[in-house]
Amino acid sequence: MEVIISDTKESASRAAAQVVARLVREKPDAVLGLATGSTPLPLYQELVRMHREEGLDFSRVTTFNLDEYIGLPRDHEQSYHSFMWENLFSQINIDPVRVHIPDGMTDDVPGFCAAYESKIREAGGIDLQILGIGSDGHIGFNEPGSSFASRTRIKTLTQRTVEDNARFFGGRGEDVPRHCITMGIGTIMDARVNLLLAFGGNKADAIAASVEGPVAAIVPASILQHHPNAKVFVDEAAASKLKLSSYYRWVYDRKPDWQKNA
Ligand code: PGA
Repeated sequence: MEVIISDTKESASRAAAQVVARLVREKPDAVLGLATGSTPLPLYQELVRMHREEGLDFSRVTTFNLDEYIGLPRDHEQSYHSFMWENLFSQINIDPVRVHIPDGMTDDVPGFCAAYESKIREAGGIDLQILGIGSDGHIGFNEPGSSFASRTRIKTLTQRTVEDNARFFGGRGEDVPRHCITMGIGTIMDARVNLLLAFGGNKADAIAASVEGPVAAIVPASILQHHPNAKVFVDEAAASKLKLSSYYRWVYDRKPDWQKNA
């Protein structure tokens, strides 16, 4: 894992956006795995800026989102469909045919999940996956205890995730769906590059456990220690419990520019 510590979430997001932009410029038909939640918002804003001001072209890019709540119609304001169209897709030149987000209203969850995996394979696999992290260490909605071999499937949210996400539902935890469809940890590990973003002090324990703790299913993001190209972009607060933070800064400051965005 490569750990990149920035002063603010905005500067961390700009650094992460450079990695995404470099891929899209070099491979215009890249396949991106995308995430929702508060964490990727500044990254998406930077990608929108690059599209408008620098002509970053998404017309041939294919996307697969990590997850979606079960039971929320696409047009529900808290569905991840709504999130993605509001915060990214409506502001770039993406082809809607190439956008894939799990369908939380499907009446055949296992069939839908198997088809989602097939579509990822048929697209050539995910080149670069964006990840947030839950305060409990989840990636996608793969909660603690999820199998490292798991594929896209139904999961039940933990009580902690329901509480964390209640802020999006007017503070009403009872309105947060209990189930979701999420890519599995095996699906995420198949991505050629994983970019994990984490901001704020409430992510510090999860980041320390994921980056420096033992690899264990109780901390799903810890599996990224086994990924050949995983980059972790954190602000100072999320990095505050890392034992080797000065070493990570030392390494990054000495990298040639070409390697920073590789
Ligand atoms: P957040 O969620 O970005 O809203 O903190 C992250 C996650 O649950 O993966």
